[in-house]
Amino acid sequence: MKKLTIGSIQKRKDALPLVMITAYDALFARLFSESADILLVGDSLNMSFGGNNDTLSATMDQMIYHTNAVCKGAPETFIITDMPFGSYTDEATALTNAIRVYRETSADAIKIEGGAEKAHLIKHLTLNGFAVCGHIGLLPQAVRAEGGYKVKGKNEHEALSLIADAQAIQQAGAFIIVIEGVKADVATRVAQSVSIPVIGIGAGNGVDGQVLVFSDMLGLYEPFVPKFVKQYMDGASAVKKSVSDYASEVQKRSFPDENYVY
Ligand code: KIV
Repeated sequence: MKKLTIGSIQKRKDALPLVMITAYDALFARLFSESADILLVGDSLNMSFGGNNDTLSATMDQMIYHTNAVCKGAPETFIITDMPFGSYTDEATALTNAIRVYRETSADAIKIEGGAEKAHLIKHLTLNGFAVCGHIGLLPQAVRAEGGYKVKGKNEHEALSLIADAQAIQQAGAFIIVIEGVKADVATRVAQSVSIPVIGIGAGNGVDGQVLVFSDMLGLYEPFVPKFVKQYMDGASAVKKSVSDYASEVQKRSFPDENYVY
């Protein structure tokens, strides 16, 4: 598949939905790149790969390590890197950390969580040459501040606030927005209120594309399965069965047989 550019991504507004999926390493990035338009090196890796309860302890070093692996596995795919919690607290900090992403990896863009209150940071980054993806609605990095993962857009006040967020982010120069955990009808209104693509996760079908966390959609992450996740395979069972078959063959000495020896 030909690598998308900012221009070709923006042409997908109100057109063929964009397919985004998270990737954290070269192995899976290579596999996903056959069908995905965009790979997101999400700080969700801190949960499924890092074993933590939330994304908040992800670091810049971690994000850069995983982004490099993904870039190597999928050099022909557009790659977005998540800026981790605490890496964009003010303009100078955001710029220093964003520069690390572009200097130390070949990621195409960075993603920042937050609405209108983060627009000044997005503007600072875009004016300094960064391609920025916004992220509004349910913000995983706000989980401790909000006391849990809260679905947004439950009333008209929240709907108008999300629309204002999206418009402020677009105005600040973002080329795309992820909208997470928002009532489907409200997410559709948000997508219709801006001219850049809006990619949904738990936000229904009226947006310009979808993103899922790969370990969720492959059924590999067992601790919690959000309502919006469709599991396209039962990865956990497949992996456990394979390792259990291997273990019993090793114990019975039926592996390796004559087919697997020099
Ligand atoms: O970190 C992540 O994987 C994300 C997705 C939930 C969009 O930000």
